[in-house]
Amino acid sequence: MPYETIIVQTGLAERVAKNRWPARLDVLQSGTGLFLALFMWGHMFFVASILLGETPMWVITKFFEGHFIFGSSHYWLVSCVVALVAVVFVAHAGLAVRKFPINYRQLRAIRAHSRAMRHEDTTLWVWQVYTGFLLFFFASAHLYQMLVWPEKIGPYGSGDRMWSDGLWPFYLTMLLAVELHGGIGLYRLAVKWGWPDAPRATLKKLKWALTAFFFVLGLATLGAYMKIGFEHRAHYGERYTPAWIAAEPQNENRAVAPAPQAAPSGENE
Ligand code: HEM
Repeated sequence: MPYETIIVQTGLAERVAKNRWPARLDVLQSGTGLFLALFMWGHMFFVASILLGETPMWVITKFFEGHFIFGSSHYWLVSCVVALVAVVFVAHAGLAVRKFPINYRQLRAIRAHSRAMRHEDTTLWVWQVYTGFLLFFFASAHLYQMLVWPEKIGPYGSGDRMWSDGLWPFYLTMLLAVELHGGIGLYRLAVKWGWPDAPRATLKKLKWALTAFFFVLGLATLGAYMKIGFEHRAHYGERYTPAWIAAEPQNENRAVAPAPQAAPSGENE
């Protein structure tokens, strides 16, 4: 059936009112992207607390588990935050799919155009599509782990995951993808919505500076978890507990097994 006939038969030819949905969906995509980018900044600093030592990271983990409010860990609180981020992530990805090339022909066309034009912003857009595609898989897997096993987050738990579970190549790839994707995304937001109102060259410098900063911070953080995981490999699964808490016998999360009691005489005979 010819294209014109379809347009006429679906009534699109007579439409006079402007369709505002593409614009609304664009605002939603920008909003969810901004939320995720700001979340990532916070996330990178929280996770990087391991650079200050095991105890600072443990304190932050316990804070999110509500330990200092309720007096014990409520892992479901972490799962709730993860669920919220996951919903925004899925919405953002769903909205982004509208702009992905949907077949090989389209992909070839956009690649040929971006190579021929050598227009940096177009090239950045293509990179955002590639890294966004990678994040579909990597971020989903990461969010699933955080949602289902929030109790495994911690200096030893995270270190074990990186080293003994062998996930460091996964995290390295995700780190590279998310920093490129987030940096380009924020730059595009600034260009699109005009805030901050600065020349593109300045915005681009800021973008690369932020990407480099978070990438270096992320690499140092990854290295710190790998080191802890390596040193902890013989005690895989054991939880970290600061010395002052491990000393309290009633603490349920203690990492160090209580010293064996002297057996009453005759008990083991
Ligand atoms: C509320 C949701 C999230 C929580 C609770 C969370 C938690 C964590 C934790 C605890 C780590 C340390 C390693 C580990 O224990 O596995 C980590 C690492 C990481 N997460 Fe997340 N994460 C969340 C969402 C995300 C999202 C949406 C992304 C984006 C793709 C992301 C990207 C990363 C990256 C790249 C690392 C490695 C950091 C580094 O190597 O420095 N996370 N996350």
